[in-house]
Amino acid sequence: MNYNELTPAQAKEEYARTLAEFEAIKAKGLKLNMARGKPSKQQLDLVSDILTVLADPADCVSDGIDARNYGELCGLPCARRYFADVLGCKPEQVFAGGSASLTLMYDLVAKGMTHGLKNSPRPWAQETGLKWLCPAPGYDRHFKITQSFGFELVTVPMTAEGPDMDAVERLVRDPKVKGIWTVPKYSNPDGVIYSAETVRRFAALRPAAPDFALVWDNAYGIHEFEGDYVPFPDILAECEKYGNADMVYEFASTSKITLPGAGISCMACSEANMAYLTALMGVQLISFDKVNQLRHVLYLKDKAHTLELMKQHAAIMGPKFRLVVDVLNREIAPRGLATWHEPKGGYFVSVNVRPGCAKRTWELCREAGVVMTDAGAAFPYGRDPQDSNLRVAPSLPPLEELEQAMAVFCVCLRLAALEQLV
Ligand SMILES: Cc1ncc(COP(=O)(O)O)c(C=O)c1O
Repeated sequence: MNYNELTPAQAKEEYARTLAEFEAIKAKGLKLNMARGKPSKQQLDLVSDILTVLADPADCVSDGIDARNYGELCGLPCARRYFADVLGCKPEQVFAGGSASLTLMYDLVAKGMTHGLKNSPRPWAQETGLKWLCPAPGYDRHFKITQSFGFELVTVPMTAEGPDMDAVERLVRDPKVKGIWTVPKYSNPDGVIYSAETVRRFAALRPAAPDFALVWDNAYGIHEFEGDYVPFPDILAECEKYGNADMVYEFASTSKITLPGAGISCMACSEANMAYLTALMGVQLISFDKVNQLRHVLYLKDKAHTLELMKQHAAIMGPKFRLVVDVLNREIAPRGLATWHEPKGGYFVSVNVRPGCAKRTWELCREAGVVMTDAGAAFPYGRDPQDSNLRVAPSLPPLEELEQAMAVFCVCLRLAALEQLV
């Protein structure tokens, strides 16, 4: 029964039925979580051998460098080669860091504020009215970084091909616009892969600000859970082709390959940017954790070997995403209550419910014992203008719990829509 075609009397009846279903669920006292994109225990167990790969002190020397000691600010050469292989860029363009790419991103913006980036006329903190472009729905932690430094967050709509590039090209004509957040492959939360044309238009961008930063967060670059690995262009080479070598900063990490919070991360950029930024970074640290970098390279080896591991992750993740989409197709599609993307990689399913229903669905879920990502979180300032987007993160709960949680979610979504209708 399509809810959009219900007569008032039918809506009332359906409301009473759904409310009873909701009350019955609430009485069960469930405690389920679909809030954050965390790997499941099963996935963490997959990589247990990484804990013992460095058993002997003799293993700690790589390229003649003892990973246990100070030095190599840009990371172990083998870690730089590893990320270069994964991203398709050159090892000299890679800065191998610590356990979180988010730290490197935060640090880039912080350095823009305090010292300016390489092509900044002055530190950003000495300018006023600065803006940052935020394709939305997007990643809440990105938005919070630039919000915390006082940037005005400017929303750019997402399309099936990536951010709306007409809007991006228009907005960057404003010299106050200093950068943009992007997640080019399996975007968080839509799971969109930017099209070749979107990538080309980004590379060819002509921002008015000489120090505009294209933040290319390739967090899910090899994270297919359905089908084969999808090759993706090296944004550094693309930007160089258009005379924009210094505009782009690419980020990635092994957070969802090995152990989130205990993995390794990287920033890739032009060699000129690398020289500029490492001069600043050298003041704040002598080197990141090279022992963990070495452990990762010994365990993951290279891109081909890592893709084999990603197949094992996919065998765990794939059924969870299929379950989410199956339940939505069965429970929500016939009722005409939402649309969603069917991603083939990444960590999320982005569900667009009837305008004005997202927050209420989230509240009902919480009452029924299912924690979801905050409604609106995927938008700048946590405000979804349509109040319609909800992010489902199916990776953490075991399949049986996920099935329960999705059943609750669907009942809550129906109830929220019926409350509007009656
Ligand atoms: C798009 C995106 N970037 C970065 C991160 C965090 O990465 P890291 O653990 O390397 O800081 C996440 C985690 O969910 C993410 O979704």
